[in-house]
Order: sequence, then C-alpha cells, then structure tokens
Amino acid sequence: MKIKKAIIPAAGLGTRVLPASKSIPKEMLNIVDRPAIQYIVEEAVAAGIEDILIITNRGKGAIEDHFDHSFELETNLRGNESKKDIYDAIVRPANLANIYFLRQKETKGLADAIHRARSFIGNEPFAILYGDDVTVNPGGTPVIGQLCAAYEKYGKGVVGVKAVPRKDVSKYCSLDVTPLEGNLMNCRNIIEKPTEDQILSCYAILGRVVMPPEIFDLIEQTPPDPKAKEVYFTDSMVLLAKSKGLLALDFEGTRYDMGNKLGIMKANVELALQHDEIGDDFKAYLKTLTQTL
Ligand code: UTP
Repeated sequence: MKIKKAIIPAAGLGTRVLPASKSIPKEMLNIVDRPAIQYIVEEAVAAGIEDILIITNRGKGAIEDHFDHSFELETNLRGNESKKDIYDAIVRPANLANIYFLRQKETKGLADAIHRARSFIGNEPFAILYGDDVTVNPGGTPVIGQLCAAYEKYGKGVVGVKAVPRKDVSKYCSLDVTPLEGNLMNCRNIIEKPTEDQILSCYAILGRVVMPPEIFDLIEQTPPDPKAKEVYFTDSMVLLAKSKGLLALDFEGTRYDMGNKLGIMKANVELALQHDEIGDDFKAYLKTLTQTL
C-alpha cells in the first residue's frame, strides 16, 4: 500500500539547544537558507507524501507561519523581476503539501505525540520524520522514500538505522538485528539508551520510521518507563517487532541532529558546501580558514 501520510513530531522542549530554542522552535533553526523543518517537509514530499501533520505545542507558532502565505511580503515582492527568486522562495513552503497542525498539550514524550495523530492517520501505514533530524541523500532516493519502499515490499514497519560509534550508543537506542536482504535487516528487539552491558548492536534509530496503523493500539498497551514515567516509543516498536514484525533499514544518506549544537554546525557547513549559490565561495573560505587552524 502506497504511503501518503506523514507525521512530524515537533513538540519537544529542545533543551539541548537552549538558549537558541528559547523563543524560536529548534525545528526553525536555520540551515544555510531554510529552517530545518522545511528540509524535512521537502524530503517527505519528494518521497510522494501528500498529507503531513506537524505536532507542535505552545510557542511553536513560527512553524505554522512558515508554511502559510505571508501576504505582506508576497504583495511587496510580487511583480518585481529582480526579486523573483526571493518571491518564489517565500511562496514555496505554503504550497509544498497539505500541511496540518495539532498541539501536544503536555510534553509527555514521543509516543504520546505520535498517538495524538491517530484520527489523522486512520487505518493506513504512515511515515514519521522526527522534527529535529534532517536527512539528505543528494542525487538519490530520499531517506523516508527508502523506508516507504521497504514497507511497500514487505508490509512490515521499518525503522531507519545507522551504526553509531560504540561509545555513543548509550545516547541512542540499540537494535538486535539479523540480515534480511541488502541493507535491510529483521529487528527483534530494541533497548532505549542502553548501558554498556545492554548493547545489542551499534545500530540505532536515526529519526525516520514507517509504521502500520496497529502501532496506535500498541502504544496504548505499552507500560510507561518506570524511571522516565512516560511511554517510550521504542518500547511500543518492540511490541510491534514481537507481533507483526519490524524491519531495520541501514539507509543511504546523511543524518544531521539538529537537536544538538555540533549537529547544527555540521549541517550548516556540509550543506553550505553543496549550495548552488554560495557553495564555491564557501569552499574557498573554508580552505583559507583551515590553514589557520
Ligand atoms: P527529543 O527527545 O530528541 O527532543 O525528541 P526534545 O525533547 O526536544 O530534546 P531535548 O532533550 O529537550 O533537547 C525526538 C522528537 O520528538 C519530538 C521532538 O520535537 C523531536 O522531534 N517530541 C519529543 C515531541 O513531539 N513531543 C514530546 O513530548 C517529546
């Protein structure tokens, strides 16, 4: 079944990027010339997604404004030939897809945010793109498109994974996997933020997931983590792995973590180097700069 709907959970507090995210949602932090969340919506659209629900909360109104028309700017720029590119760039986000918004009224974790999308999704498979993870695959299939293709072939939930350095696994989750086909694996178990002796493999989920609608019932059945006192989405995905099955795809592409300072800088440097307008000048600048380091 073709995947047409996506959720972007963007209701986290973004504490790791404070104070930048105090009054600007972290999803609106800039990468070269666009806020991070625009890259994410563009990725979903490039993969054939038509309807996108962005989960927000108080203080994230800038996200809604970004995907709306700005009549003042548009009226000011319309018809000015020398500013046509700028006009097109500001109109584009409003026309990318059918974008809907829903507020998560309490910050009760990712599983709760996703569960709120139940009536929007109905009874079909759907994509989840975490609002602080930007993934790019220049010249290739968008990362979420790679996951959708695996879902459409096997009819099972798919998580996008990469091997992370062993010393970092405890910041992510760890997956128990066995090979299936190419870069696709069967996933039998996941441990959230494992201690050293709990590590199952260095594969961790990095911000892209495709789920069957059964996940909503499984979220309801998942006991809250005793320490965090919230339902971990990974625990719900374990229930899925043990019932309907779950696949893990070692995706092609690069993921930038916009939820931490180093990730933001890597995204800006690497995507500036690929940028049509400033790429060459930025490369020359970086070469000169590195000689001084
Ligand atoms: P994170 O845990 O990475 O985001 O959640 P956070 O809570 O904003 O991060 P810190 O630790 O405070 O810096 C992963 C994704 O889930 C969303 C976040 O917006 C992010 O896209 N999320 C998280 C929600 O939508 N609601 C929540 O209650 C928690």
